[in-house]
Amino acid sequence: MKKQEIIDILSDSTKNDWLFKKADSVRHNFVGDEVHLRGLIEFSNICKRQCKYCGLRSSNKEVERYRLLEDEIFSLAKNGVQLGYRTIVLQSGEDDYFDTDKMCRIISKIKTLDVALTLSIGEKTFDEYKAFKKAGANRYLLRIETTDKNLYADMHPNAKIENRFNCLYDLKSLGYETGTGCLVGLPNQTVESLAEDILFFKDLDADMVGIGPFIPHEHTPLKNTDKGDFWLALKVMSLTRLNLPNINIPATTAMETLNPNGRIIALNSGANVVMPNLTSTEYRAKYEIYPGKICINDQPEKCRSCIEAKIKSIGRTISKDYGFRKR
Ligand code: SAM
Ligand code: SF4
Ligand code: FES
Repeated sequence: MKKQEIIDILSDSTKNDWLFKKADSVRHNFVGDEVHLRGLIEFSNICKRQCKYCGLRSSNKEVERYRLLEDEIFSLAKNGVQLGYRTIVLQSGEDDYFDTDKMCRIISKIKTLDVALTLSIGEKTFDEYKAFKKAGANRYLLRIETTDKNLYADMHPNAKIENRFNCLYDLKSLGYETGTGCLVGLPNQTVESLAEDILFFKDLDADMVGIGPFIPHEHTPLKNTDKGDFWLALKVMSLTRLNLPNINIPATTAMETLNPNGRIIALNSGANVVMPNLTSTEYRAKYEIYPGKICINDQPEKCRSCIEAKIKSIGRTISKDYGFRKR
């Protein structure tokens, strides 16, 4: 699509139903009816960065910080495999305690479990990404958050958008399945810039794209900002499906936080992936990126059966394979 077409659809609410149906049929035709599950382990909430929207930013002193031991991470992954997950996602703040050696050790141990492994641990150097890949990591999630240079600079003190772009192109060149995405509803964000975000996903040839509505956190500078609009986030997601028909697109947890049926609505509007939480309940509440996160008191077993029931209720099935991008 051309930028103007995307802007027109994003700005016209009479096109919503058409768009959601179209994205659902493109999803069906290109990636089928199977839903891929990814088991998410939030292994450290310690972060050196200052993203203005995020509850884990280093200057938030209200959050109780934790890091899991290597053995704890491995046993959560093992539990995930026993629950039938074929992909494990390791996510954290940018926590330098987990240096290259430690990460490589964790990666190679989890890879003995016969699973695909995704990392979501922020901006690293080319050599670090290369080492993780060599240790066995298959995929990497790094949202660009916004392609609007001024907005990016405003939201990310002391960070450079050029580095974020470089990281994504590095990951691609190293052969990772590369995931990116954006936040919808950041202050002063425009539909023009959301259209640019979608064009960037296409330019990168992203293998996965996660779109999440922004949800304000009370211990951040954006505490008094309006939350993102669920339907606008859904539209960005559906337009992403139309422009990159064969990629993996998650129904994000943030969508379910804003709408009790958010993940099912997303699965019916272009999404084909869900990322249930494998973190133990002891730590879930402390990984508070934004308030109202779902499932904070639920055990991994509960989430696994809950999501299976939801997926079956809309006539979809759970994939038994690793869920790489279908070419
Ligand atoms: N630290 C890594 C990074 O930033 O790439 C991974 C963890 S970070 C918590 C994962 C994602 O959370 C970010 O890419 C961001 O889009 C999302 N996020 C952070 N704060 C949020 C908020 N207030 N509302 C919605 N999503 C948020
Ligand atoms: Fe840290 Fe990621 Fe939160 Fe930014 S979004 S503060 S990098 S955890
Ligand atoms: Fe966690 Fe439903 S996915 S309880």
